[in-house]
Amino acid sequence: CSGLEIRRPALGFNTWNAFYRDINETLVQQQANLMVSLGLRDVGFEYLVLDDCWAEKERPADGRLVGNKRTFPSGMKAMGEYIKGRGLKFGIYSDAGSLTCAKYPGSLGYEKEDADTFASWGVDYLKYDNCHARRDYWILDRYAAMRDALNATGRPIVYSLCQWGVMEAHLWGPKMGHSWRTTEDIRPTWDSVLKTLDYNVGLSRFAGSDVGWLDLDMLYVGNDTGLRLGEQRAHFALWSLYKSPLMIGHDLRDFPKQSLSILLSKEVIAVNQDDLGVPGDLIWRQGHKRIYAGPLAGGARAVVLANFQFAHPTAFQQCPRTNITVFWGQIGLQPGQRARVRDLYEERDLGEFVDSFTGSVEAHNVLALRVTPLNGPLDDGWRPWHGQ
Ligand code: DGJ
Repeated sequence: CSGLEIRRPALGFNTWNAFYRDINETLVQQQANLMVSLGLRDVGFEYLVLDDCWAEKERPADGRLVGNKRTFPSGMKAMGEYIKGRGLKFGIYSDAGSLTCAKYPGSLGYEKEDADTFASWGVDYLKYDNCHARRDYWILDRYAAMRDALNATGRPIVYSLCQWGVMEAHLWGPKMGHSWRTTEDIRPTWDSVLKTLDYNVGLSRFAGSDVGWLDLDMLYVGNDTGLRLGEQRAHFALWSLYKSPLMIGHDLRDFPKQSLSILLSKEVIAVNQDDLGVPGDLIWRQGHKRIYAGPLAGGARAVVLANFQFAHPTAFQQCPRTNITVFWGQIGLQPGQRARVRDLYEERDLGEFVDSFTGSVEAHNVLALRVTPLNGPLDDGWRPWHGQ
């Protein structure tokens, strides 16, 4: 895999959570234009990925995949050119089985042909799914076959493994692709966000800029019917902290303004794209209070104070705020060290603190912070699993 591309998690838009099977050329063009006009490209969302259902239902006799002639009449090369014409990068989807999950042709046995086809279309990113796999082909061989085929094209193509955590993916994903899915499909519910987070606890140690990234699945930021605004803030801040790829999954034509401001939070994105390239993780939990943290380049820390108090939807408004304290000792700073604490969503310094910081956090919401030591050692060797 190309060292250049692996340095940072990929940021972009993926069609699946927004449109499922119902995609077409005009719709993708609209999303590309909106990625630019809404300012998403300028904060780093660069890949536009066409998920399942872009192809003809049957593989043509010559074996070469083609775009669906009815829904993508100009063809996939032209689709890619349109996307790139907007200063974005072109992502596509295939499957390490005989069929994709939606029963379009899969790449098993056609890895070389398909990798060559994708490269000839100017593809920059491949999401590779795991449906309709034949049991007599070992999963690692199926994924390695496409990795080798992509490498053989000579074109740098981000290789995003979508194997839903199968077979301890964190153990073999790092040698295989730029990122690997750690769970089954996320759904637009708070329960599903929590379940994904809980599943990833402790996995940060397997990922990083030298090996690749944990993929916590696509974002549901913007989906107001499934997630409250505070839940969307928590979702985005924690996906950023774990250094998951950040793939928008809601129709940009109809994007709520407040959710858009979450996606445009440059300082939260900066945690995801930080030069040190070390994912954060859960470091403390007591009841519904949690602290997630990770190291940043130059000795600072990203800290997310989370209040995940259980509340029935009708009683939600009555949930009190909770104070949560992070002690410097928990994040590898020295007692007595003075540090500046900054609220990353508000883009505002909260002051200088010695030994600890206490924040007041709403239910189902987070405070996303950057803690920068002002005196004493600037140690970026601390890891969230130290002390566990
Ligand atoms: C399963 C994957 O996990 C989803 O993200 C999506 O790509 C669908 N398959 C498409 O069929």
